[in-house]
Amino acid sequence: MEDKANIIEAFSELAPRYEQVVNSELNRFWGWSYTGFVNLLISSTPIHPQDIILDVATGTGVIPSLLEKGGHPHNQIHGLDITLSMLKHAKSRLGGQDGHVNQNLVCASAMEMPYANSSFSQVICGLATHHMDVNKLLHESYCILQSGGKLTIADVGGSEIMKFPGIKFLVRIFAFCYFLLFENKMRAWAESSAVSNVLSKEDWSLVLLKSGFRNIVIQKLSTRYFWVPAPLLIKAEK
Ligand SMILES: C[S@@+](CC[C@H](N)C(=O)[O-])C[C@H]1O[C@@H](n2cnc3c(N)ncnc32)[C@H](O)[C@@H]1O
Repeated sequence: MEDKANIIEAFSELAPRYEQVVNSELNRFWGWSYTGFVNLLISSTPIHPQDIILDVATGTGVIPSLLEKGGHPHNQIHGLDITLSMLKHAKSRLGGQDGHVNQNLVCASAMEMPYANSSFSQVICGLATHHMDVNKLLHESYCILQSGGKLTIADVGGSEIMKFPGIKFLVRIFAFCYFLLFENKMRAWAESSAVSNVLSKEDWSLVLLKSGFRNIVIQKLSTRYFWVPAPLLIKAEK
């Protein structure tokens, strides 16, 4: 099955129980709670009152909702996701059809964002880059950001151990078996295919520079086990 269709199918099935499942997965592998992780992403994003923010792969809208409640009610906040069922949950979380973020939710791929150049001053993305072609994501993000605009990402990163030949393949097999056992076949395909998109801290620096970003700061976050690819917090500027 094509990756995109597979991702949509996996997240459509996951949507009703998304936060609960992700919370237990982050906890199991990284020792992070889901809210702790997204709160760290938000608190690392330097938001000014006039910022226009896009949350890429917004899922069930947890990040926009925390932004709204957490002292940024006047910012224009947009959310984009490829899975309609995830966005339906975002709509109910964000206060019905009339909520201002609700009117800014778009079902589309981050590989082809439906926004004019220089539309945003902040682009955020949590727990989703591993499902994407990172070069395309960065190209699209660069285009839609205003000059001086900020990009903040928090997601899994590749560990040093993954550079050894065959290790990525083993991680892929592990991911497939784990998600097949604890979740289902769609999720197993989606998460095991995603392993090839996972970049190390050094690789992130290179692709960000190649895409035109500057002032790049990448921080490795804590993880529970040395053999589990650790999360990264990535900040860059156009
Ligand atoms: C693990 S969830 C993260 C959701 C949210 N950012 C959060 O922190 O809870 C991954 C999300 O990425 C979305 N996604 C995957 N590939 C995408 C793409 N190419 N464009 C837009 N969204 C995508 C999925 O539909 C899913 O909602």
